Amino acid sequence: MKVKSENIVWHHNHVSREERHELNQHRSCVLWFTGLSGAGKSTLSTAVERELYNRGIRSYVLDGDNIRHGLNNNLGFSPEDRKENIRRIGEVSKLFVDAGLFALSAFISPYREDRDMVRSRFADGEFIEVYVRCSVDECARRDPKGLYEKAMRGEIKQFTGVSAPYEEPLTAEIIVNSESQSIDESVAQIINYLKDQGYIQDEE
Ligand code: ADX
Repeated sequence: MKVKSENIVWHHNHVSREERHELNQHRSCVLWFTGLSGAGKSTLSTAVERELYNRGIRSYVLDGDNIRHGLNNNLGFSPEDRKENIRRIGEVSKLFVDAGLFALSAFISPYREDRDMVRSRFADGEFIEVYVRCSVDECARRDPKGLYEKAMRGEIKQFTGVSAPYEEPLTAEIIVNSESQSIDESVAQIINYLKDQGYIQDEE
């Protein structure tokens, strides 16, 4: 990775990742939710977080709208700004995973290259891409924030699905279809994946 500063030396932690996993009694990973605005990423990630919490698993949701109020409040929606948005969140997610947590990152992240760049920062099995699939028509019908209407009137430029692209994942670990599945079904699908792959244990 490109580093601008000189004379910086990596400092190693005294507590290993394995020790943190031992303390928490679970592994850590990032669940990377990608999909159109209004597809249900935030709803689904917070529902998964609740389910994980109930099972004693330490997790935290990082969400596009929220992070853009703080850490990324200097970024807009040009391809370059979205790339930087996703790069920073990828790095924050990595810190969470190093800290032994489940990071639930919910960002449109429309560009395949940007998502793959984040994936490449993680070890095998640490990055789980969750494609929250929903058609533009259905997202525009739901339009929970009234943004599609504005975008279609031309009042919002570079709006994903209307005037900016969304590149579907080709190798997502999990695909949920928010048009045909209920939230509970999608949560169950994700929890089952985590169980099958040994990220979490079956409840006794
Ligand atoms: S991303 O493309 O860089 O991953 P991010 O997930 O952080 O986007 O933010 C998306 C949210 O910003 C949307 O859910 C929507 O509420 C809001 N938004 C405002 N303008 C746009 C736009 N031009 N395109 C997409 N989302 C927008």
